[in-house]
Amino acid sequence: MQSTSNPNLLSPFSDTLTKLAYQGFQQTKSVFSFTHKTISDHLTNTFVPTRQDITSPLSPESLLKLQESRSQLCDIDWEDAQKGVYPVEVLFDSFLPDFLRYYPEVWLDLPKIWSRLQRKEYQSFADNIEKEGYPSYYLQNFHHQTDGYLSDSSANLYDLQVDLLFNGVADSMRRRILAPLKEGLKTFSSVPAYQIKMLDVACGTGRTLKGLRATFPKASLFGVDLSPAYLRKANQLLSENPRELPQLSHANAEDLPHPDNFFHGVSCVFLFHELPGFARQQVIDECFRVTKPGGTFVICDSMQLSDFVEFEVMLNNFSAMFHEPYHQDYIRDNLEERLEKAGFELVETQLHFVSKYWIARKPE
Ligand SMILES: C[S@@+](CC[C@H](N)C(=O)[O-])C[C@H]1O[C@@H](n2cnc3c(N)ncnc32)[C@H](O)[C@@H]1O
Repeated sequence: MQSTSNPNLLSPFSDTLTKLAYQGFQQTKSVFSFTHKTISDHLTNTFVPTRQDITSPLSPESLLKLQESRSQLCDIDWEDAQKGVYPVEVLFDSFLPDFLRYYPEVWLDLPKIWSRLQRKEYQSFADNIEKEGYPSYYLQNFHHQTDGYLSDSSANLYDLQVDLLFNGVADSMRRRILAPLKEGLKTFSSVPAYQIKMLDVACGTGRTLKGLRATFPKASLFGVDLSPAYLRKANQLLSENPRELPQLSHANAEDLPHPDNFFHGVSCVFLFHELPGFARQQVIDECFRVTKPGGTFVICDSMQLSDFVEFEVMLNNFSAMFHEPYHQDYIRDNLEERLEKAGFELVETQLHFVSKYWIARKPE
């Protein structure tokens, strides 16, 4: 007789233990990130004293709200695993080997960042880096990243730096795209799982594709990014999974190398705040072109000014502290309008911790 048991439906006892382990894991990452940021901010303010004047302190209410929304995000992450959107093991994915190998480099990189900050240099790249052919908006040291997105050492540090910035929940935020994509695939229930095609735009080092692979083990996955170094890193990460490798392409998301009406689902995580307005529209138009009628497009990015007044100071601090030249424009942009202009129907928007999600559908 065929078993109908769901591996995620654990017995109540082991369920409680696993949940406690998950909460402990998240708590450890939160305390570690907080300590790391406190020490590194203190050092940065000491070596670059002008930095102290560019941010404002968060109110106790905002800090409390932030803590609450982080904990709600972890609860939803747990619930989605329980419902079987993705396997519970995914919650414990920790990139520990990368942490052990590259965490010291995160500290060693700080003096380079201070020196660029003192000289007010925000478009600085090592001499051997090829800069030709990239859009000018891209050639930036986004979040003061040494070599921007264009070196292997930047790619090695990126995941650690993002997770420290987001208090250990960067992957939990990325995973919020998975349930809407899975829901959207119900439109294609007659299509065999191995014929489903999903694209992650601006896939970076591949962490979202890793989540997509855990959620859609048989689907054909595709990723696009402008950084050859980040694609190399993604290839390394995704090769650890014995299943079919995603097809990675070096391309501008404004001009995707895929045919019209090709993908059943398309995602794009943490890209839009790093694009000027015209490129945001162009990327959305391209995502519309490559999505099949009935297919789903999910964007995950920073929350915006209109979402929570309590977080206005935090959003302004983010633009001021990190080099994010398009973030101020992005937090005022109307992405709903842009999606509809491209032809999408907006299904819903969601907020989780400091991220916002737009779930859109291409009409059939
Ligand atoms: C903040 S990172 C996000 C990466 C990844 N999605 C994640 O979740 O970590 C932004 C990524 O967008 C890529 N990118 C920026 N502009 C792009 C463009 N016009 N076309 C393709 N990729 C782009 C960068 O190379 C970088 O990998």
